[in-house]
Amino acid sequence: MVQLTLPKNSKITEGKTWKRPTGARNVTPFRVYRWNPDDGQNPRMDTYFVDRDDCAPMVLDALIWIKNKIDPTLTFRRSCREGVCGSCAMNIDGTNTLACTKGMDEIKGTIKVYPLPHQPVIKDLVPDLTNFYAQYASIEPWLQTKTPTPEKEWRQSHEDRKKLDDHYECILCACCSTSCPSYWWNSDRYLGPAALLQANRWIGDSRDEATGERLDNLEDPFRLYRCHTIMNCAKACPKGLNPAKSIAEIKKRLVERQV
Ligand code: SF4
Ligand code: SF4
Ligand code: FES
Repeated sequence: MVQLTLPKNSKITEGKTWKRPTGARNVTPFRVYRWNPDDGQNPRMDTYFVDRDDCAPMVLDALIWIKNKIDPTLTFRRSCREGVCGSCAMNIDGTNTLACTKGMDEIKGTIKVYPLPHQPVIKDLVPDLTNFYAQYASIEPWLQTKTPTPEKEWRQSHEDRKKLDDHYECILCACCSTSCPSYWWNSDRYLGPAALLQANRWIGDSRDEATGERLDNLEDPFRLYRCHTIMNCAKACPKGLNPAKSIAEIKKRLVERQV
C-alpha cells in the first residue's frame, strides 16, 4: 500500500499557549495557525484566550483583539469589516468563510483558525493568492465590444441587467475555489469556481460582444471541465452564490453552440 507522509517541515507543531487575561470571566479559547517564513521553524498552533467582555462579537474582532492586546506578531488580512472586500477569508472551525461576518457565538468551544486551504502561505493566516488573481485576469473581466462606443452609455434593459444577479455580488474572497477538491489538485490548470462564476458573469452580459471568444477560452479539459459538481463551492460561499450553477451554464452554452 502506498504510504503518504508529509515532508518534515510541513508538519504542524504545538505552539505557545498565551496567558489567560487576568480577571476575565467570559473567555473563549482560540487555536490559531502560525507560520513565519523567516524563522526556519515548522508551522505551529498557538493558543490564545479572548476576553469576550472586552471584545466585539465577530471572529475578526477576536483576531484584532489578540493582535492589539496579546501578540502583535499575529498576521492576517482585513479591510472593510463588512463582508464586502473579501480580504479576511480564512478557514474557521473547518469552513472557509469571512472572519468579519462569522460570529464567535456560532461556534461551540475552542475556535480553530487556519489560512484558506491548499494555497501557499505568506505568513500566518495570509495565503498567497497570486495564482487565483492571475486566473481571474485570464477570463478578461471587463466589457468587450466591437460596435462603436455610444456617445453616452452602453444601455441595458432591466431584464438583461437582472441576468447578472447572483454573479456581480462576488467579492473574490476565494472561499469557494479553496474549498473545491478539483481546484486543490489542479489549481495550476483548472480555473476554479470563482474565476468561472466571473467568466459566466461576462458571458451573460447583454452588452458584451466577445461571447464566442470567451467560450473558446474556456473550452478546455482542464480550465473548465475539471468541475465534477461536488458543490463544495456553493456551500462555502459567504455571499450565498452558486458557482457550480454558473459552471453548468457555461457547459450548457458550449453544448448549445455545437448543435
Ligand atoms: S461544483 Fe465544481 S467548482 Fe464547485 S466545488 Fe465542486 S468541482 Fe469545485
Ligand atoms: S463566488 Fe462566493 S466564495 Fe467564491 S469568490 Fe465569489 S464571493 Fe467568494
Ligand atoms: S474584512 Fe472585508 S470581507 Fe471581511
